[in-house]
Amino acid sequence: MNYEAIVLAAGRGKRMNAGMNKQFLELGGEPLIVRTLNVFERDERCTRIVLVVNPAERSRFEQLLARFRIRKVAALTDGGEERQHSVYNGLQALAGEEIVLIHDGARPFVRVHHLHELVNAAVQYGAAIPAVRVKDTIKKANGLFVEQTIDRSSLWAVQTPQAFRLSLIMEAHEAAKQAGYLGTDDASLVERIGKPVKIIEGDYRNIKMTTPEDLLFAEAILASRMAE
Ligand code: CTP
Ligand code: MG
Repeated sequence: MNYEAIVLAAGRGKRMNAGMNKQFLELGGEPLIVRTLNVFERDERCTRIVLVVNPAERSRFEQLLARFRIRKVAALTDGGEERQHSVYNGLQALAGEEIVLIHDGARPFVRVHHLHELVNAAVQYGAAIPAVRVKDTIKKANGLFVEQTIDRSSLWAVQTPQAFRLSLIMEAHEAAKQAGYLGTDDASLVERIGKPVKIIEGDYRNIKMTTPEDLLFAEAILASRMAE
């Protein structure tokens, strides 16, 4: 089954503290966003990419697409204040493929076989997300005193891309917008309207480049890829 992708690059990258949008940082000689886009560019099942950007950075992204010969980006859409607003804008620029994958531009290490597993699960269940089992013990605190230890066996750390049937994610985003609800991922908007979300066991290496330490992890992941 084919799909369209929405790739989000309209954040500010504040926690990376790089003095610029982290999407432009180089990883092994290539800008982060180029690495991410190339995963979809090279997947024959991806028919089209909607890239969501800050309007002030639009021309910089356009230059990268030309320089790195990325051809599948069919629309550059303006981002919004919060991630959810950026996704909403991206949804308006889709061409109507039955399945849509929504991905953080800041996750360059996602693998094609995972994309396909997610697409297949979205066809079957409506919504599918990649997640990894939480490795640390997680405690709930009140200030800096522990209130409770959460049972880890039921906890998952969630990643992107999150895959949806187009009609379902449209309905979920419209409902959230109407209610003024802001979620931290797209699946939570689907959960809100009472629809199932399937977990697909993901890869610990599909990290989101968030803080400066992540650049060190990225180098290690790149080195392991070279050795493969
Ligand atoms: N994003 C977006 N629009 C926003 C906020 C975030 O398109 N209004 C994108 C980011 O560009 C990123 C992804 O959503 O690819 C995940 O967000 P995050 O890791 O939080 O990135 P930033 O918001 O850029 O970073 P920070 O929160 O540290 O400022
Ligand atoms: Mg953010």
